[in-house]
Amino acid sequence: MKQNLEDLKNEFAHALETVKNRSELVNLKADFLGKKGKLNSILKSLKDASPEVKKSLGMKSNQLKEAVLAGVEKKMTHLELSEINEGLMKNWQDVSFRGSVRDNGLSAVGYHPVSIIQREIEDIFLSMGFEILDGPHIEDDYHNFEALNIPDTHPARDMQDTFWFSDMQHLLRTHTSCIQARGMETRKPPFKFIGPGKVFRCEATDASHEAAFHQLEGMMVGKDISVANLIYFMKTLLSEIFQKEVNVRLRPGFFPFVEPGFELDIECLICGGKGCSVCKQSGWVELLPCGMVHPNVLKSGGVDPEEYNGFAFGLGLDRLVMMRYGIDDIRHLHSGNLSFVSQFKAY
Ligand code: DAH
Repeated sequence: MKQNLEDLKNEFAHALETVKNRSELVNLKADFLGKKGKLNSILKSLKDASPEVKKSLGMKSNQLKEAVLAGVEKKMTHLELSEINEGLMKNWQDVSFRGSVRDNGLSAVGYHPVSIIQREIEDIFLSMGFEILDGPHIEDDYHNFEALNIPDTHPARDMQDTFWFSDMQHLLRTHTSCIQARGMETRKPPFKFIGPGKVFRCEATDASHEAAFHQLEGMMVGKDISVANLIYFMKTLLSEIFQKEVNVRLRPGFFPFVEPGFELDIECLICGGKGCSVCKQSGWVELLPCGMVHPNVLKSGGVDPEEYNGFAFGLGLDRLVMMRYGIDDIRHLHSGNLSFVSQFKAY
């Protein structure tokens, strides 16, 4: 009987070695320890043995049972690990491999060129003591027109094709001049500020026109401000922006909110004055409409025109960007094309 148990132990050890997977192992365990298993059939035959024999063989058979259980558990762990490893070898993934990444814009190394120019100009004006103001894109009739000396019946309303909201009281601002109107309301002279931002016009697009573009408004109000002051600030601005002397010309220009009004043109930097699609073959680009603030505008802003005067200007940022970087079509600026944007140096 003792020999039988010893044989069974060896048989188990041998069988365990040949087991290849978990279901074979489960069967093996049942074969040795199950109700109808090999150990039980040996124990059953003990039924008529003497108590001493029963006792010593009972102990032996318990040891065998424990050895079988321990062997099965160890083998189970081993089989589980090797199954995991096999799975990994079959379905491995290289997590360091760069897949097709969707560009979410964060990878672009540059700022939009309009932002670059806007920030540069903001720095120039900050250094000259100007404030930087903001205003809403959705404006009311009053701030976009009325307060700027453009009453309801004024033909100048037709100069700008406006996106109106259905209430006909609100609109997408057609210029940043509304920032003048709002800025004056909350300040006492003397003051000077700029107001950069997006503006909207309902017009057909081509190489030099877009329905949404950018302007930078400027206003200085105080005592005894003259056209000479205006020219000084505009010249300082342009030479800082282009980092060189640019050819300019002043023409009289009409804008209801200034008197006298001017158009400051610069010689086209794309074609050097020869004529191209940006300058409409004229060699000159309208860049800086400006003038002395109209007394009615000062009055609307709560400023006494008898005591104070000032100048204002409205700079077209997109044209400036096109001149600076030699971009020949304004539509690139709104293309949303990241390879276009990433060409420009970070601010
Ligand atoms: N608001 C004008 C426009 O969009 C530009 C302008 C002209 C602004 C003369 C000014 C100015 O401040 O003085 O066409």
